[in-house]
Amino acid sequence: MRALILVGGYGTRLRPLTLSRPKPLVEFANKPMLFHQIEALVKINVRQVILAVSYRAETMEQELKEKADKLGVELIFSHESTPLGTAGPLALAKDILVSTSDQPFFVLNSDIICDYPFKELMEFHKNHGKEGTIVVTKVEEPSKYGVVSYKENGEIKEFIEKPIEFVSNKINAGIYILNTSVLKRIELRPMSIEKEIFPHMAKEGELYAMELQGYWMDVGQPKDFLTGMCMYLNNLRLKTPEKLSSHVNVEGNVLIDPTAKIGNNCRIGPNVTIGPGVVIHDGCCIKRTTILKNAVIKEHSWLDKCIIGWKSIVGRWVRMENTTVLGEDVIVKDELYINGGQVLPHKSITDSVIEPQIIM
Ligand code: GDD
Ligand code: MG
Repeated sequence: MRALILVGGYGTRLRPLTLSRPKPLVEFANKPMLFHQIEALVKINVRQVILAVSYRAETMEQELKEKADKLGVELIFSHESTPLGTAGPLALAKDILVSTSDQPFFVLNSDIICDYPFKELMEFHKNHGKEGTIVVTKVEEPSKYGVVSYKENGEIKEFIEKPIEFVSNKINAGIYILNTSVLKRIELRPMSIEKEIFPHMAKEGELYAMELQGYWMDVGQPKDFLTGMCMYLNNLRLKTPEKLSSHVNVEGNVLIDPTAKIGNNCRIGPNVTIGPGVVIHDGCCIKRTTILKNAVIKEHSWLDKCIIGWKSIVGRWVRMENTTVLGEDVIVKDELYINGGQVLPHKSITDSVIEPQIIM
């Protein structure tokens, strides 16, 4: 079977991280987001994955090829010269999607994290026999998603992308299985699958919804990234607790790369991921935070709800909280207080930041 992953888009909402790496390669729980998805696809025997890319493809190609070889999956890069939206890329990859077989194929948004239910989706799709199935999940605040209402058997009555008025709290989770016949509906131009394809399929009774069991998050913005991290770690606790750290200084669900160094008298957790090569000096307290590769946190700093970019250095006695995101290679001087906001790559912060802001 095949899958197409939509990896284009500028990832503006995940800046400053996406100024250094394309969104799908930003590590979520110590693994590029895309690898979480590719690994799950390989598990159900998908052997060909098409990556629909429109932006900074070069960085991705080198890194991903190596990983794919190890997993035994063929990666095909489908390059857009101008961004084609969420449907156009399917038209561009049409020849690949229909070659050798007309089996249905999976489509994924690259920024969603869950226990990918590919096997169940395949079975559900086969059973109803219509053109497409989308995975749906329940959220508190549906207005920033594609909202669906459907009958008890799953047949979707209505699909509305980012509605202004409340329609339902069931939303498009960004995972689809589609018959190749859907390709007839899509043109080779910038086109939105959510606005221009799904509403029509729904009207014709050709689109079904399968409810997702378990956690789900679109991790394409810092706050949601951290919420998604908590959910992911909680799921690890339930399914594979041996993957979580049992370090003496750890509290709750924490993931630590084996090459990271943790000092004495620290309190790490709950809900922290620490990437390779990271150094945490003595006496630090870190909660609900992601620390990316090769960052350094010096003595007695206190971090809550932060994402610390690659190679950044946080000085001694720093207090940082309220969804602060440091880009790559940022330096925060000793004894500062940072109360939220984003710091662009390669900046040096010498004064406290009392109100959340973007530091350029
Ligand atoms: N190749 C390509 N080209 N990919 C693109 C393009 C493009 O021009 N534009 C966006 N993408 C990719 C993004 O990288 C992402 O993986 C996916 O398409 C969806 O784009 P987002 O920008 O993340 O959309 P969203 O989060 O606002 O909404 C989408 O996801 C929600 C679930 O998280 C929609 O599909 C909603 O209906 C859905 O509820
Ligand atoms: Mg998104």
